[in-house]
Amino acid sequence: MTALLEIRDLRAEVVEEGVEILKGVNLTINKGEIHALMGPNGSGKSTLAHVIMGNTKYRVTSGDILFEGQSILNLSTDERARLGLFLSFQTPEEIEGIKMRQFLINSYRNIHPEDQRTLLDLNKLMTELTKKLDLNQDFLERYINTGFSGGEKKKSEILQMGFLKPRLCILDEIDSGLDIDALRIVSESINNFKNDEMGILLITHYQRILNYVVPDYVHVYIDGRIVITGEKELAEKIEKIGYSTIEKELGLKINEE
Ligand SMILES: Nc1ncnc2c1ncn2[C@@H]1O[C@H](COP(=O)(O)OP(=O)(O)OP(=O)(O)O)[C@@H](O)[C@H]1O
Ligand SMILES: [Mg+2]
Repeated sequence: MTALLEIRDLRAEVVEEGVEILKGVNLTINKGEIHALMGPNGSGKSTLAHVIMGNTKYRVTSGDILFEGQSILNLSTDERARLGLFLSFQTPEEIEGIKMRQFLINSYRNIHPEDQRTLLDLNKLMTELTKKLDLNQDFLERYINTGFSGGEKKKSEILQMGFLKPRLCILDEIDSGLDIDALRIVSESINNFKNDEMGILLITHYQRILNYVVPDYVHVYIDGRIVITGEKELAEKIEKIGYSTIEKELGLKINEE
């Protein structure tokens, strides 16, 4: 079976400074799998997410990223989105002047040009999704993320996931800043939107969300690479003992090549 996403010994640097952030990432995600990625602040998790999406701030210096067996390194971000890659941002941008509804419809039409559904059908679907996420109806008439609370911004990202129907979802700290009820709603939505054809990479600091969105694999990511892979229990262990103990256990020398 061809993997949905395969990252092979990926190294990448910041274009402007030339500083290497990804230092040999290997990761394979198959359809239907949920992978949690956990690691200390500044270890390069968000950078990995951005490099997968083709953010031009970063340059891949070696290795490869394959989506269903094809290298996507030469594709632009919008081409990757059309293939079905999706990133929910750790810190979503506020974009004034474009309403959520307009943004979602335009994105959907671009990603799924073959879909014949009418505007009315798509609007209905959007309304259903906002209800499920416990968002006000005026949410869709507001400018993208503008003035949204932290929790609303995260729900806005999940609304996009549910509406745009991507095949690989990278969720970067979707749980940060959510109150208990919102965490439950967002987690239930992720589980609802997931299907057997979809893979999820869930970047998080806390194992709490993993009680709801149960991962098949948990990866510990330190200093630009995955250093251990386990199952859900690994996340519980990290919460108990912290990364520095894991680094010691593995004999890792951080910040040294
Ligand atoms: N565009 C950039 N220019 C300069 N430095 C960058 C850039 N992008 C990332 N970095 C640096 O790369 C390192 C990794 O950052 P990244 O945001 O990927 O970490 P993270 O693992 O997501 O951390 P957190 O858990 O705090 O979100 C940091 O030291 C950061 O300052
Ligand atoms: Mg981050």
